[in-house]
Amino acid sequence: MTREMLDRDAIRRHLPAHPWAERVEVLDTVGSTNLYLKRLAADGAAHGSVVLAERQTAGRGRLGRSFLSESGVGVYLSVLLRPNCPPKSLMSLTAQTAVAVRRAIGACCGVLPQIKWVNDLLLNGKKICGILTELSMEADGDRVRYAIVGIGVNCNQNRGDFPAPLAGIASSIFAETGVWVDRNRLAAGIIRAVSELTETDWLAEYRSACVNLGRQIRILSPDGEQTAFALSVDEEGALLVRDPDGNVRRINSGEVSIREI
Ligand code: BTN
Repeated sequence: MTREMLDRDAIRRHLPAHPWAERVEVLDTVGSTNLYLKRLAADGAAHGSVVLAERQTAGRGRLGRSFLSESGVGVYLSVLLRPNCPPKSLMSLTAQTAVAVRRAIGACCGVLPQIKWVNDLLLNGKKICGILTELSMEADGDRVRYAIVGIGVNCNQNRGDFPAPLAGIASSIFAETGVWVDRNRLAAGIIRAVSELTETDWLAEYRSACVNLGRQIRILSPDGEQTAFALSVDEEGALLVRDPDGNVRRINSGEVSIREI
């Protein structure tokens, strides 16, 4: 199988007349596209600026984890948004992005991943994509200066490419479906889908694609581990759960991750 490189012109060809096309930058190696774009944002980069890298040496995940980002096999991409809104309006940004990336993968590869709350896309129960959203606030804390949405998709790895402890948990679109991914096309599809995000049309799709709903889960937080029953996801992307004592409560993704039982 030919390993096409990520290529700015190829990505732009898939984004004809799109206002973000000229703001796409492709790097060979970087620590983290999120951190790189954060520096551009501090220097005034525009809404819709996009950075991709063939490889990240310090790819960042949620909750201080790392994200394996080997060369030639993934799409590691960060988008800068300047939405000029209070932080509360962006509570669901990560969940909305999960829906956007799911749509892009569906259009490019013909498979629709499931979603594991809040930010993972799964094929055959294995993680093929993670999303890390980072916000910068104005000094008064009332408005968002900018948001960086970082998306990592495992495209063309073989199953054996994932070392322990990822083996068995992580996989790629190719390994799970046999579909070889045109990464430039997928990157363009993701950029377009993120640019088309709206606050209104994501929630029904998120709920129907979310593997956790209607199941017992374990909630892992700095305070320890609890079991609960996952009921639904609300407009802010929070998970509604019923505790064993019958209380219903919302959990925000902040410091929490969940596991199946
Ligand atoms: C997670 O699964 O916890 C989130 C992973 C997010 C990875 C992407 S790859 C592009 C961007 N740059 C980073 O350093 N992280 C995100």
